[in-house]
Amino acid sequence: MNSISQAEIQKRRTFGIISHPDAGKTTLTEKFLLFGGAIQTAGAVKSNRIKKAATSDFMEIEKQRGISVATSVMGFNYKNYKVNILDTPGHKDFAEDTYRTLTAVDSVILVVDCVKGVEEQTRKLMEVCRMRNTPVIVFINKLDREGKDPYDLLEEIEKELNIHTRPLTWPIGIGGTFKGVYNLYEKQLNLFQADKTKIAKEIVAINDLEDNILNDLVGDKLANKLREDAELIEGIYEEFNHELYLESYLAPVFFGSAINNFGIQELLDTFVKIAPEPRGRETENRLVKPDEKNFTGFIFKIHANLDPNHRDRIAFCRIVSGKFERNKFYHHTRLNKKLRFSNPTSFMANDKNVIEEAFPGDVVGLYDNGNFKIGDTLTEGENFLFKGIPSFSPEIFKVLENKDPLKTKQLEKGITQLTDEGVAQLFTQQPGNVRIVGTVGELQFDVIQFRLMHEYGAACAFSQLSYQKASWFTSDDKIELERFNTIKKYNIATDKDGRQVFFADSIWSLKMTQDTFPKINFHFTSEF
Ligand code: G4P
Repeated sequence: MNSISQAEIQKRRTFGIISHPDAGKTTLTEKFLLFGGAIQTAGAVKSNRIKKAATSDFMEIEKQRGISVATSVMGFNYKNYKVNILDTPGHKDFAEDTYRTLTAVDSVILVVDCVKGVEEQTRKLMEVCRMRNTPVIVFINKLDREGKDPYDLLEEIEKELNIHTRPLTWPIGIGGTFKGVYNLYEKQLNLFQADKTKIAKEIVAINDLEDNILNDLVGDKLANKLREDAELIEGIYEEFNHELYLESYLAPVFFGSAINNFGIQELLDTFVKIAPEPRGRETENRLVKPDEKNFTGFIFKIHANLDPNHRDRIAFCRIVSGKFERNKFYHHTRLNKKLRFSNPTSFMANDKNVIEEAFPGDVVGLYDNGNFKIGDTLTEGENFLFKGIPSFSPEIFKVLENKDPLKTKQLEKGITQLTDEGVAQLFTQQPGNVRIVGTVGELQFDVIQFRLMHEYGAACAFSQLSYQKASWFTSDDKIELERFNTIKKYNIATDKDGRQVFFADSIWSLKMTQDTFPKINFHFTSEF
């Protein structure tokens, strides 16, 4: 590969911002875009309002889809870097969407609310990052509020998220007494000014914490406390080790207040410096490295057109290696088909532009009329599928009922396409070809019903099943597999790829079944 492409790879940073809803993910994203000059005013990235809707609201769903197309990928240039932020939905019912997006990033910034500490979604999202060894930077937000003690927060993060931490900045006071953060790394003091519109600029270099200037700036009490804290931190923590961060063993920690633009510049500056450049990805047979000459990429998200009169969709392709070029034929490995894209789009902040070429780490939007499903791979001829884009075992199950026999074909087409998009998973149970839809959240059923009607003209209803967990199963022991199939036949179905799935009535009965059939292997993601 020529050196230009090498430089293109090195300057890219593709990452996701993750958090429990309300911790400040949207605000932080927006502030990054402001710093990157990609937007001019705060408020351009609308908050994820659907997360707050207690009941499902179709207009909200539609609005959300509209917003999420526009903000799915936000690219901008910052200093010499090309930064790509991949948006992750905040609502927990869309968690699987978020998990899949995490397969397309090279690192994450995890936002934690200093008042609430580690929350449920924080834990789940971190589990996914750990599964994939994704490097994590922690941003502790809302320091302008009376939050938990910073040491307690770090301990909570270490314990509950099972990762080592290393603070790189340290707060001076908190809530009403919050004075700013001290950059332990650069030995600089950044003084807090509550200001939502301007970028805080009062940064003072303090080479020696004993210097009395510190007392003048923050008062005697907080100056002495900072001296103690800095000494303690240097005593407890080892020097920040970049390698350990890249191995996802260690998370550097920053403190700040996103809404006040505070602590953001330090975070962004350090992020571009230390975050990994585009990484390779495993396939079924080999590791593909970004600097390989030939283009490869995979689809991690599919978005239907919001206009129901146009059935086309946008497939989001993460480029893994080589250079992607407009109008060149690529090989769709699952369908064994040559495809060419005449209007591939890039996503620079809220603008969509047709692009001529794109490089590893970039995400391109490909117009699609039904060729793609999540996990599909494009190459220049080589045959493989990228690994690591699993479906997770769903937890809510309903039988799909056709309400209009004249529209059977539309219903079938609609549910196939929606499940290809990853809205939900589809299972078929015999006898009777019963269609079972499995999701991680209730809201998806409303989305499906609404979209089947509006985009495909098919009316459906759902009836609840009492299953609580699905798992794929395999065994080397054919006789045992047959015995299991016979005994559990009412709890078994097949997924879209024809693989067998067991539905458990409860977590307890799943455990019992595992104990009773030790020769059967149960899998909780589709990748095994
Ligand atoms: P999310 O995407 O993680 O769900 O969070 P989002 O950014 O929407 O932020 C959730 C709420 O927290 C918002 O308030 C936001 O203004 C507030 N927030 C974000 N950063 C800070 C901070 O540093 N300090 C304080 N005090 N608040 C912060 P909201 O009232 O829900 O919405 P809005 O009316 O302010 O938009």
